[in-house]
Parts: sequence; C-alpha cells; structure tokens
Amino acid sequence: MVNRRIAEILRSGQPDESVGIQGWVRTKRESKGFAFIEVNDGSSLANLQVVINQDLPDYEAVLKKLNTGAAVEVTGLLVASLGKGQRIELKAQALKVYGEADPETYPLQKKRHSFEFLRTIGHLRSRTNSFGAVFRVRNACSTAIHQFFQERGFLWVHTPIITASDCEGAGELFSVTSLDLKNIPRTENQAVDYTQDFFGKPTYLTVSGQLEAEVMAMAFSNVYTFGPTFRAENSNTSRHLAEFWMVEPEMAFCDLEGDMDLAEAFLKHIFKYVLSTCPEDMEFFNQRIDDTVLATADNIINNQFERLTYTEAIKLLEKADIKFEYPVSWGLDLQSEHERYLAEQLFKKPVIVTDYPAQIKAFYMRLNDDEKTVRAMDILAPKIGEIIGGSQREERLEVLERRVIAQGMKPEDLWWYLDLRRYGSVPHAGFGLGFERLVQFMTGMGNIRDVIPFPRTPQNAEF
Ligand code: 4AD
Ligand code: MG
Repeated sequence: MVNRRIAEILRSGQPDESVGIQGWVRTKRESKGFAFIEVNDGSSLANLQVVINQDLPDYEAVLKKLNTGAAVEVTGLLVASLGKGQRIELKAQALKVYGEADPETYPLQKKRHSFEFLRTIGHLRSRTNSFGAVFRVRNACSTAIHQFFQERGFLWVHTPIITASDCEGAGELFSVTSLDLKNIPRTENQAVDYTQDFFGKPTYLTVSGQLEAEVMAMAFSNVYTFGPTFRAENSNTSRHLAEFWMVEPEMAFCDLEGDMDLAEAFLKHIFKYVLSTCPEDMEFFNQRIDDTVLATADNIINNQFERLTYTEAIKLLEKADIKFEYPVSWGLDLQSEHERYLAEQLFKKPVIVTDYPAQIKAFYMRLNDDEKTVRAMDILAPKIGEIIGGSQREERLEVLERRVIAQGMKPEDLWWYLDLRRYGSVPHAGFGLGFERLVQFMTGMGNIRDVIPFPRTPQNAEF
C-alpha cells in the first residue's frame, strides 16, 4: 500500500478507506483494552489519531515501544471519529515501530517547552508544534516568492557566495581561507595556519548578491536572487543573524517609484499566499504566539503602505512624545526603536522611508540633485523595523566613481561594476528582503533564531 501524508488524510480521507501512514508519535493514551496514539509526519499541525485495539498482534509489547518520539508505520482503516477534535481517525490493522525513543532521556515531552530550551536541542525542535508551523510557513513564503517573480517574468539568478567585494561597504565580512588539511601533519603539535587567502586572493562570504544581480539585470532586465548572505556584525539582537537568507530583485529601466511599487505588491502577495495555503498554522500563531498575527496580515494586504522621506521622518521623530534611547537628528541613521515608532505607533502599518542622507548609505545608491541625499528606500514593519532595504542605483559613471572614492573604496577593484555604467547603462533599481525578518513578521515569532532551522549567531553555530 502506498503511504499517504497525514495532512491529506485529515483533509480528504473517507471512512472505510484503507491507508498507510508513517510518522512520529506525539502522545499515547492507554485505556482498558485499547490505546490511542497521535501521529505527526510534519505535513500538518494536526496529528492523526490512531486507535490500537488489544487484538493487534503483540499488543502489550508494541504498546511499550510507542512512546513520544518513536517512529512508526501504521496501516489500517479510516473510521469516523466519535471523539471531539477530529473528523476521522485510523483503526490500526498493522503497526511497525521503526525507531524507539526512550522516555527517560527523550528531551521532548508532552508539555510546553520554552523557546530558549528548544534552542539547546536544535536537532529535535522541528518536531514541536511551533517549529512545525514556522518551517511550513517558511516554505510557503519561499514558494510565494518564486511564484511572484516567475509570474512576472523575472529570472532567478544564482550569485556567488564567495566574493571579493563588500557590497554594503560596512566592513562586516567573514573572510574565506583555503586550507589543505590533508597536508598538515597531524602528529605534530602544530597550529593550523588560518591566514592563507583563497588561492592567494582575499575573498569573503557575500553580504549581498546585489552587485552581481545588477550584472545580470543589465542582460535580462528583471532578475532576482534568493540565497544565503553573511554578516560579521557582532549584534546579539532578536533581529540579527550572522547567516541569513535574502531575496534581491533587480530591475533595469526602473526608478525608485517602480521599486517601491514592486516591493509593496511583493509583500502583499506573500501574505495572501501564506494565508491561503497555511490557514491552520497562521491560526496557531495568532492563538499561541501573538494575537495580532492575523490582523497584521489583513493590514498588510488591505492597506497602502505609508511613504515619506527621511527628512519628514526625522521631523516626526523629533516631535514624538516618547523618549528614545538613541538621539534623533538629521544625518544620523534610524535605530530600530525609531523605525518601530513610525510603523507601530504613528502609522500603524508598514512605512516606506526614502531619500536618506548619502553618508549613511551605500556607495551604489543614486545621488539626488541636492547632492546630500540618495534614492534609497527602507520598508519599516511594525514589531520588526527594517524588513526591506533598497534603492535606485547610480547609473552615471562619473558620479559613481566619485562615490566609490568618497567611501574609501578603489575604483579599480570595482572595474567590472563600473563597466556596467560604461556600456549600455540604464536607470535601474532593486531591493533586499531579509527573509527571516519576513518569517518573523508573518508568524509573530519574537526571536529571529526561531525562524531559521539552524541559526548562526555569535553564540550559536553548534552544528
Ligand atoms: O539593508 P541591507 O543591508 O541591503 C542590502 O544588502 C542591499 N544590497 C539590498 C539590495 O538593494 N539588493 O539588507 C537588506 C535586508 C534588511 O532590510 C534586513 O531585512 C535584512 O536584509 N538583514 C538582516 N537580516 C537578518 N540578520 C542580519 N544581520 C541582517 N542584515 C540585514
Ligand atoms: Mg539596510
């Protein structure tokens, strides 16, 4: 018999159908003459209830093995459930235990564990309701992203992870070294030389695929990247990771308005898609994690984002009737508390702030006529702060060269990037969405470490 996924059985299984399932035991309840187990295979939040009657061969022996965490295969007949909470259940006719889980040592038991505790058992936490829901929603977000761009004719381009350029110019890079460990004598007490460059040239883990995406946009018009990026910033916050995923569309023949319109339509699309494909998981977040999750999704889908310039934002922040920890004044970057005040308290919806001072933004952003500000845009979300950062790019060779030099970089290191302005240059724009921040925003999860399967932070890179 072909085994079926539990989500599909719960949705469309009918009484008297013969089915087989495979999964992990979540709970066991014993009664006189029979027992119930709840089985989960990761396909849905809900478990399938399995009824095991004492006439099953080796009933007593099998029952002893059916502890929380054990891996099982069950075949049997679906029957209408008399119990509350489920439409249908499975009456076992055959049951096989693949791997047992010793109840004395298995760390996940039928109770609520704190997220802090679950972070210490990252290899097992995906078997809980919360992480099951998070990673299904994360998957749905990825699908929605590809669907959005593919439907619009964008090309998904794969940009390198090892690179020689610091796209953001922030100097927060992990360097890459090539080690030939097999030729390092292990017997001697000799320290490994970690200072060798990547085949003789300094290289780093990429902080952004943007510069390479610009290369591709100058041939394919509309492209996007979706891949891992790395930042060696030592920030221990609930919104920063050392390794995170970023989605970066890049559009030729596009200005900042087109960029903002695309970003807004993009976020709306992802929220709609996730609400329609993961309704139970979203309901779960709303009930158990943050009771504003569904209202936030509704807000994103149905309201126009607020758009204002950095200069206007500074004026509003200076007038704010709360005391900020960090100072507010023209020329200083917005801190997360300022971003959250604007989105959460003042406008109560996402806010797009444009035209930041040139000196606090990256070299590639298009200089405005005032020569003080650049065509940048950040999308600030309630609870999260900056979720998207983007800009219209500087397409004028002379201005770009000037900006490269002003930021202490060498034009010759970026010769290929400058070439894009020498040959067939056009106005173009793009943005980067922090994928984990999106998943946080979508699910209401408080800590970014809990929306990526294997978080990498200064404290956490265990496996
Ligand atoms: O604002 P950032 O640094 O922009 C760029 O990298 C541009 N090259 C994007 C582009 O225009 N193509 O980063 C973009 C987004 C931020 O808005 C934030 O959501 C996320 O990436 N981000 C992080 N997410 C998790 N951990 C970190 N350490 C992050 N740093 C940035
Ligand atoms: Mg940014």
